[in-house]
Parts: sequence; structure tokens; C-alpha cells
Amino acid sequence: MNIIIVKNAVEGGHEGYKLFAEAKKNGAHVFGLATGSTPITTYQEIVASDLDFSDSISINLDEYVGLAADNEQSYNYFMHKNLFNQKPFKQSYLPNGLAEDLEAEAKRYDKIIADNPIDLQILGIGRNGHIGFNEPGTPQDSKTHRVALTQSTIDANARFFEHEEDVPKEALSMGLASIMQSKHILLEAYGEDKADAIKGMIEGPNTPDLPASILQGHGNVTVILDEAAASKLT
Ligand code: F6R
Repeated sequence: MNIIIVKNAVEGGHEGYKLFAEAKKNGAHVFGLATGSTPITTYQEIVASDLDFSDSISINLDEYVGLAADNEQSYNYFMHKNLFNQKPFKQSYLPNGLAEDLEAEAKRYDKIIADNPIDLQILGIGRNGHIGFNEPGTPQDSKTHRVALTQSTIDANARFFEHEEDVPKEALSMGLASIMQSKHILLEAYGEDKADAIKGMIEGPNTPDLPASILQGHGNVTVILDEAAASKLT
């Protein structure tokens, strides 16, 4: 893993942006995207830049089950607000959390990923080491699937909702195998509450107990950390 340590999320966002710009320059045209607070500074830099994605495809990692695209808490809404409205892609895909048949929707999404191999995938990491919504224990050969969120993730996400009971309990997520197919993976992490997960991801064993540790087996991973997230590395 190529580890870049920065002072804060603003500097990290700039480093992340540089990787997007370089990937574009080298012909990348399918970008795997994430939501959450972590990628926001990278998206801000992209929005402020002259990068043009009108010939590119984006494929998001995940979406809550049960939220419509115009629900302010949906990941679809988040992506439009933070990136797509300002930097439209030729085609943007997110899982449809309102699909009647969620298993069929997962299969449809896998076909999208298979037809559009991801050149650069941006990831955040959960405090429990999840990537996408692949919670601890998720099989490493998983493709897109329906997920029951853990209490730790529900608690972490509650800050975005008015009432904790409004936080969806399920999501659709790309699987670990889907993420590992990406040609280049960029994981960003900021803040002390990510330090244990980062230590496990980089220095611990490769185990389904800490889903992000699977990245040890990928040959092209860049990790951008602030000093707090890197503070437990030896
Ligand atoms: C979001 C996602 C999640 C987040 C993770 C960290 O699409 O897949 O894995 O990256 O929960 O969230 P933040 O960035 O809010 O700390």
C-alpha cells in the first residue's frame, strides 16, 4: 500500500483530487465513488477544478434500502449535492434502494460493474473497518448484496438524521470482491476514531473480521491519512 500522511482532510482532499486528475489523464473513465464525510474534500477540489467527467461513468458503492432518490439522506441525493450537480458524468449508477426485488437489483448492479470495470475506486472506512457497507464477517468473495447494518454503523450514521430511529437498518452494497476488481483503490481516513481500523487494515491480519484488511491483497492501493488516523501505526 502506498501511504500518504497529510495534516488534515483539506490537504487529503487535495491529494485525492490529484489522483483523480492523474487517472483521468491516463485514460480512466469509470470511477467508483463513495459517500460519507470522508470524500467530501476530494469532491470539493474536483468541483473547483476544470476536470471534465462528461465522458466518464460513475458507479457508487452503496445505497440505503427504503430511501427515495429525493430523500435528503439518500446517497443518491448526497452525490448530486456534492458532485453530480456541479460535475455531471455521462452516466452515474447507484443501487436502487427502492427496488421491489432487492436480490434482482443486486444482480443488475453486478452486471453494471462487470460491463464497466472500475478504473479508480474511492473509499472511506468505518470505525469497525467496514468498506462500502461490508460489515465485519462479510465473506471476502461477496458481490453486490443486501446488508443488515450493524449497531455501530447505525450509531455512526445517526448524526445525519433527525431521529436515530430514522436511520435505515438495511442497505445494498457492492461486495468485497466487487471492490477488489477495481484497478486502483484510493482509501481516505481522517480523525482519531478511524485509527484502530487503519492499524488493523495495514498491520493486522487479512481477515473478514476487519473487512478493509482485504486491501492488503490488492496490488494498487493508495491510502491517504491525516496524522490522527495514522496515530496508531507502528
Ligand atoms: C459510504 C461508505 C462507507 C463510508 C464509511 C465512512 O458510501 O461506503 O463505507 O465510507 O462509513 O464514513 P464517513 O466518511 O462518514 O466517516
